[in-house]
This record gives sequence, C-alpha cells and structure tokens, in this order.
Amino acid sequence: MSSTPTAPAAHDPLDLVIFGGVGDLSVRKLLPALYMAHLHHNLPEQTRIHALGRQAWDREAFVAFIQEKVPGFISAKALEDEAWQGFLARLNYVSVDATQAADFTTLGAALQPGAERAYYLATAPSLFTDICAHLSGAGLIDARSRVVLEKPLGHDLASARHINDEVGRYFQESQIFRIDHYLGKETVQNLMVLRFGNTIFEPLWRSPFIKSVQITVAEAVGVGSRAGFYDGTGALRDMVQNHLLQLLCIVAMEPPVSLDPDAVRDEKLKVLRSLRPMTAADVARDTVRGQYTAGASQGDAAKGYLQEDNIPEGSTTETFVALRAHINNWRWANVPIFLRTGKRMAERRSEIVIEFADLPFTIFPDSPRQAVNRLMIRLQPEEHIQLQMMAKEPGSGMRLRPVSLNLDLESAFVARRAEAYERLLMDVIKGRLTHFMRRDELEAAWTWVEPILNGWATLAEKPKAYTAGSWGPAASSALMAREGSAWVEEA
Ligand code: BG6
Repeated sequence: MSSTPTAPAAHDPLDLVIFGGVGDLSVRKLLPALYMAHLHHNLPEQTRIHALGRQAWDREAFVAFIQEKVPGFISAKALEDEAWQGFLARLNYVSVDATQAADFTTLGAALQPGAERAYYLATAPSLFTDICAHLSGAGLIDARSRVVLEKPLGHDLASARHINDEVGRYFQESQIFRIDHYLGKETVQNLMVLRFGNTIFEPLWRSPFIKSVQITVAEAVGVGSRAGFYDGTGALRDMVQNHLLQLLCIVAMEPPVSLDPDAVRDEKLKVLRSLRPMTAADVARDTVRGQYTAGASQGDAAKGYLQEDNIPEGSTTETFVALRAHINNWRWANVPIFLRTGKRMAERRSEIVIEFADLPFTIFPDSPRQAVNRLMIRLQPEEHIQLQMMAKEPGSGMRLRPVSLNLDLESAFVARRAEAYERLLMDVIKGRLTHFMRRDELEAAWTWVEPILNGWATLAEKPKAYTAGSWGPAASSALMAREGSAWVEEA
C-alpha cells in the first residue's frame, strides 16, 4: 500500500472516451494500461476516463464489473489498493448505443466542459461511421479532439479506404491515431535506435552486404476464443498486413530527418510503396499458407485448428503465412525479405534476423563460405541482440566455430518497461502521432497485400498442414532453401 498518485506537470483537462469500454480489449488491455500509467503517476491529474457500453448500468454495477474483471490483467505486484481506488475514481460509465443519436447528448453532458477529448473506438469498424457522425451531430468534436482507431482497419483496400473516408469526414488526418500495437512495443521503438543511434551498421545495411532479412512473429497460442473473428480474417490480414509490414518498414526505411510524425511516416511509406507487387505466379511460388493440425504446445496436447471451438467444418483459413518479398530500391535490390507468422508454433518468438553476405572466398579449408554473420534482434519474449561471428576454436589447427556477441537489454536497463498499450495511450493523451499509422501507409500496405489474397483465391488450394508446436509447414523451409538461406532455427 504505497504512494498516492500525484499529478504530473500541469496538463489541460482531458476526457478519454472509450467506445466498447467494457468490451474485451478494454478489459484486457486498455484499462490495465491506464491503471499502470496512473500508478506510475504518468496520467495527468485532470484526465478522466469514460467507459461506454450498451448496458443500462449505474455506477455501482459498472464498478462491480470492473473490480471483477480488470485486476486479473494487472500483475499482482502492481495492484496497490490506494492507487486502484484512485484509478476507479477517475472512471465513469456512460450507457451509449452508438447507433442512437440521442445517447450522444447524454455523453456530452458527462464530459468535462472545455476539456480536450480523445475518442477511442474499440468497437467493430462497422460502427465507426455512426459514432463519428453522432459525435459531430452532438457538437462533441473540435479542433483539439482526437480519435483512435483499433484494427482491423478493413479487410481489403476498398474497405480500408471506406473507413478512412468516413472517419475523415469528421476528423482531420492530424487528429486520427491508427493503432498498431507493435509500434508501441519498447523493443520495436528500440529498433529505430539500433539503426539510427549507432553508426556501425549503417554502411552495411544494404545490398550487397546483406544476403537476406527474415522477420518472424511466432505465437505459441492457438486461435483461442476468437474463432468468430479469426476465421474470417486469417494470418495474412491479422498479422502481416499490419504488424509484420510495420516491422519491415522500420528495418528497411531510410533515415528520417527527425522523429517528427510525418518525417518518420514518409520514410515508412516509401518502403511500402517500393514493395514489388506480387503477380499470380509470384503468389504461387513465393507464399506459403498453413493451418495447424493437432499436436503439442509447450508440453500440452493441442487441438488442430479445425477442432477448435466454433471453427466451421472444412475451414481453409490460414493460421500461418511465410512469404518472400522484395523491395525495389537501391538499398534493397536483390535482397530477399522473408516474413513468417503463425499460431501454435514451437514457441512465442518475434525476431528479426539480418543475414550478412557469404564470404567471397575462404582461406580456411574446413570452414564454409556461407553466411555466418547474423544480427539477430529478439523483440519478444526476451529483448536481446546477438551478433553471430566466426571464431577460432582453441587448439592446434584452424578450426572455426560460430560464436555470439550478446547484448541482453533487459539486464542492461532494469527500469520498468511499459506495455505497448500504455505507451500508445500516453501518446494519444499527449497528442504524439509518430507511432501511429497514417492513412497512406495503411492503404499502401493493403495495396501490396491484396494481390496475395486474390492470388490465393484463384489458386483455391487448401492451406498446408503443420503440426501444432512446430515451426510451420515444410514448404516454408523450402522457400528459404531456394535462396540458399534457412530460417534461423534451422541454420
Ligand atoms: C493481434 C492479433 O493484433 O496481435 C492477434 O489480432 C495476435 O491474433 C496479437 O495474437 C499478437 O500480439 P502480441 O503483442 O502478443 O505479439
């Protein structure tokens, strides 16, 4: 029972209004993140949080719900009674049906007069238009207002454009915060520092010094209780279109002129626009779709995707994707970029591997010419960087062996690491746009992804089976082998 949170530096009053405020995302991520910001005295004193839902609850019922559901998503160590009570005091509940204009008058009456407003739309995108129109109709949008959009932002280019057009009728681009929670991860932000806060890698960060780039976001979990959403979505839309392409942008972009939101986003956009469009033949050759079958995950038996609850019989939704991409620009010409993501893989691991070029020639008869120098950037679950090099094995003769220079960032910095949503919510509150996607970025990502979806529809092949708890279908290894590379765990 420690600290009563005190206010950080003076800040204008702000109302953070969460549509879908008692929904899954809010309970699991947003409210715990806001609590942590409150606990660590980062939430400005005059910030009020309004959770919106359709239930006709009074405050007592709302608080009972929050007390029951939210603490389970906060670590026991961080739950301090006084801070928790202080956090509850900032929370308000407003019963709002997003389709009913009259409810927005009630909402207006609940907000602090003259406060800045940030509207977080943690609802299905089909409600975005109604919400924005009714906010506008009730006079609740002004030049200082912000809107936060949660994914999925579209299921193809046309639907993404539609969302952008609709929201854009009521909010300027500079007021729109499109969330990709990967951009809020400490480790992902650190990638920018690795590249642009150091000089040693930059001269080598290009063709022909780099042989390949691999980006893996592997999950050990299965589809869980999200069958309804996931089966209509699949791994390409759920993970590649947003998280993996955003990681790729940070790995591949040119140095931005500053950290200014548009300076960074301009450079990311150039990467997305330089991705070589995939033809139908490329899709057939350079992409692999997979679906997990029964196996074991971390010691426990795991069902196959088709046996999971509420998955339609015979579903052909992919739970795994591996693909080879190319970036058509001077820096990356001829460097294959491999992206891979999947559920029920061998372990949870997000990692970027930069494989440097093969030796042009070797003077060590027993040692391979093949690439041995790899920079491995582990983003999660651990945060570390390894540089793999060749060294001489002690003893007579000249036997070479790979060894690693290891940098463990978690022990280098013992400070608390905020969760992605906490960092991004603080950005919203402070009005910082750098780690959010701009409209043109989102649309460029869909422009590249859509031909893959179309190619798959034309091919009409079933996804390739892989056993739960493995690293994906064999075809994924073959994709790499064709380029003389291997996924890092097979190298
Ligand atoms: C979400 C996807 O965007 O990211 C989920 O919808 C996925 O399917 C999740 O599990 C992974 O996020 P993290 O932070 O656990 O790597």
